[in-house]
Amino acid sequence: MSLSSRHLLQLEGTPKKDLDLILDTAESFREILDRPIKKVPPLRGKTVVNIFYEPSTRTKLSFELAEKRLSADTMTFTTAMSSVRKGESLKDTVRNIEAMKIDMVVVRHSSAGVPYYLTQCLEANIINAGDGTHEHPTQGLLDIFTIRQKYGKIKGLRVLLVGDLKHSRVARSNIWGLKTLGASVAICGPSTLLPYEAEKFGIDVYTDIDEAMEGVDVVNILRIQLERQKAGLFPSQREYTNLFGITTERLKRLNKNYTIMHPGPMNRGVEISNDVADSPASVILSQVTNGQAVRMAVLYLLSGAEEQGNKV
Ligand code: CP
Repeated sequence: MSLSSRHLLQLEGTPKKDLDLILDTAESFREILDRPIKKVPPLRGKTVVNIFYEPSTRTKLSFELAEKRLSADTMTFTTAMSSVRKGESLKDTVRNIEAMKIDMVVVRHSSAGVPYYLTQCLEANIINAGDGTHEHPTQGLLDIFTIRQKYGKIKGLRVLLVGDLKHSRVARSNIWGLKTLGASVAICGPSTLLPYEAEKFGIDVYTDIDEAMEGVDVVNILRIQLERQKAGLFPSQREYTNLFGITTERLKRLNKNYTIMHPGPMNRGVEISNDVADSPASVILSQVTNGQAVRMAVLYLLSGAEEQGNKV
């Protein structure tokens, strides 16, 4: 079996069979991560370039390690020390990198649509590592993988995303992926931080957190993008925490075997209290571990290694 596309740009429109294939393949790679030697050969001879025009800790390191653990040759390009500082355009930058005979590009950029644009200028497989407020598909997949790991299913679960839904690419990827796999999805946040197109998603929308938490299995708490606070999207951090911060008291409304998630980086004491972040129901660090397995699966499937008989 192979994926329907040679790129991973978004989960919107990604068919269920592709999501299932990535998640099932990631199970095999997750098992490899528990071995003493966490390295397998399927991407030997392939070269992967990570192009990061925006800061990242988890996604950048996770992709780099996933590539190394698949035995690919890898390079990471960050704009701070590059000729982008001398005014080189995105197109010239990526075409020069491709001239070094590379096979796959992982890209993060502040502008939505850059990964799609790269599919128009390059022959390489393109993986979106977060583009503006559009999507962050591998984060969505790793969140879904982590939920499936705990419950053994996605269909029928109630998942609530809380926080800055308007600017969150993580939320968009979660919503599309979860809906395709049959979850019941809800979002909650201040009305100024809800997406204009909320109704297009076909999900439940709340502005009252206590109401939103009723009967929920999984709460995925999004980062309040404090840099956007300058735009006055909510009156103060303290007010946000009072009205929407996830505290132990608020968890009482959730279903019994509930799960707490956060894609990181966390603002402790703002959108999530310390005791919730570090509680037994929190799978925040498992999300990071599972991100490795999911990214290994995406790289492996897009590279065509499976079709060439390079089984894991
Ligand atoms: N979750 C996430 O994308 O984190 P980074 O910005 O650190 O990559």
